[in-house]
Amino acid sequence: MAKDFDAMEDSNRSGNPSIHQLSDPARRIWLKGGTGALAMGLLAPLLPGCATTAGSGPLLGFKGIPTTDKDTMVVPEGYEAVAFAAWGEPIGVPGHMPAFRWDAGNPAADQAVQMGMHHDGLHYYPIDGSSTRGLLVMNHEYTDDGLLHADGMKTWSAEKVRKAQAAHGVSVIEIELKDGAWQIVRPSTYARRFTAYSPFAVGGPAAGHALMQTAADPAGRTVLGTLNNCASGLTPWGTYLSGEENFAFYFDGPKTPDADQRRWGLRETGFYRWPEHDPRFDAKQHPNEFHRFGWVVEIDPFDPTSTPVKRTALGRAAHEGAWIATTKNGRAVVYSGEDARFEYIYKFVTRDKIAPGGAKANATLLDHGTLYVARFDADGSGRWLPLVAGQGPLTAANGFADQGALVIKSRQASDRLGATKMDRPEWLAIDQKALTVYCTLTNNSQRGEKDRPGVDAANPRANNVMGQIIQWTEDGDFDGSTFRWKHLVLAGDPANERPEARGNINGDIFACPDGITLDARGVLWIQTDKHASQMYKGEMQRIGNNQMLACDRSTGEVRRFFTGPVNAEVTGATLTPDMRTMFINIQHPGESANDRSDPANPTKFSNWPDYREGGRPRSATVIIRKKDGGVIGT
Ligand code: FEO
Ligand code: CA
Ligand code: CA
Ligand code: CA
Repeated sequence: MAKDFDAMEDSNRSGNPSIHQLSDPARRIWLKGGTGALAMGLLAPLLPGCATTAGSGPLLGFKGIPTTDKDTMVVPEGYEAVAFAAWGEPIGVPGHMPAFRWDAGNPAADQAVQMGMHHDGLHYYPIDGSSTRGLLVMNHEYTDDGLLHADGMKTWSAEKVRKAQAAHGVSVIEIELKDGAWQIVRPSTYARRFTAYSPFAVGGPAAGHALMQTAADPAGRTVLGTLNNCASGLTPWGTYLSGEENFAFYFDGPKTPDADQRRWGLRETGFYRWPEHDPRFDAKQHPNEFHRFGWVVEIDPFDPTSTPVKRTALGRAAHEGAWIATTKNGRAVVYSGEDARFEYIYKFVTRDKIAPGGAKANATLLDHGTLYVARFDADGSGRWLPLVAGQGPLTAANGFADQGALVIKSRQASDRLGATKMDRPEWLAIDQKALTVYCTLTNNSQRGEKDRPGVDAANPRANNVMGQIIQWTEDGDFDGSTFRWKHLVLAGDPANERPEARGNINGDIFACPDGITLDARGVLWIQTDKHASQMYKGEMQRIGNNQMLACDRSTGEVRRFFTGPVNAEVTGATLTPDMRTMFINIQHPGESANDRSDPANPTKFSNWPDYREGGRPRSATVIIRKKDGGVIGT
């Protein structure tokens, strides 16, 4: 996000020192009634060098592509990429399929049944194991209100706030590969939108807690909406996890926020101007509403009547997303990070084992268990510190009277335990067999600044504009309390003068890793999110548009596979089980430096993917296929 936001992503002043889900190959995924339909293309991890799906060729069989600053997308020779399901496309709700209006003139009621804005994490759910028909579920992280409304933010109104809220959240669409092209199945009874005003149940220790009770919801058990949904994860029982990331920007706070509010980045004036027409987001009037966001939400895409749930046992955070591993004895371990400067990495170990029988059989699995925060020590070891009310310094006197209060204040609890302040943890990916987890640390330009934490072993660069990928291997099993860690790669460009901006990449240069996905052949896909304000100049000059690269972990080689259009983030990756279709997302093509486009000139930086006169740049999914029908990456 933008420079303006950077200030808000920086509320850790505490004094402590500074997956995708991969199944065991034998493991079953229970979908649609628990028939044991096997897994998605991303599952079944293999150790590096153990590729089988693609036959005997090398892990990375494609020719790498150069950087670019052109307003187009590029894939290697022999591949094709097609934009799909762009912002504003009708999702296929029966009887309500309004077409996108090129002047952004659709009202809020239309937006509520169209693809949202700013596509982010996504996942393909095969129907009955199919690689040609399934559900595509994806997040819509936030809105550019200069682009969302025909005249931008002029004459700000309740209708515009409602439209912005409708453009947030999550989409479920049914898709089908027909006559050589993927299409949205319309109408479809699966088609569904979750917006910033859809009802969510609350599960876990914060459900019903006094700090969750509001005037509109005195029981503290039903929250309207999810927002700033960033990364996606899937569960072994077939549901979808989505992280509520930068929720603080949606709220206006008091002139002088209290210490707890400050710790969560609440400011007198937020970014989105929702409180002007929706007092729920005015934390002066409704202080507890602020506690009801920052959770991992769980959605069952196969049950259109299901109520999604905020899983509070996983802790409140500016959650990028959540990814699940499975212990040898069948419990789920959920990893998550908090994308804000100097924040933390968490894991949650369920009390109970995963039950056969799909979503319904595991409806409360994520509500009971133990939450931990990570400490990375200088000697390459690490420790998971339990966040349990009543233990150690996590006392009532320190503000943690019960586990509900603790999870609402997980940042403050982590501060007390001396967890390691990281360089903005984004996505995670899990190698189930190797007990190894990868995490992108996208950047932290304030590392080492005056009055800010200095470098440490895990976050080793001051003014870290490039970011790094850290990896750790759990001792014993995923529920272990110790681990060993190292860096997979420090991003950068060896041509830079400043040593901290050079990195140590073996292969093609990149900066600001964000999305990361391990596919079933063992390729680690790395996606980048340099902000528009950083592009094409200085230390980023040679790195060009945001991109996706493939890493062969056995050699460490990184090879560029995809470059996106101008000022767009490349994010989210999911494959069909046969690995012959890959879906990724392009977010905010044409992003402006202040994150709001000029409605009088919306195509100033990009007109992707439609290149239509009088049109608008639109976030969209990209479908990547090999022209010969082969496996992606070969
Ligand atoms: Fe939404 Fe941290 O990227
Ligand atoms: Ca991200
Ligand atoms: Ca990012
Ligand atoms: Ca972005």
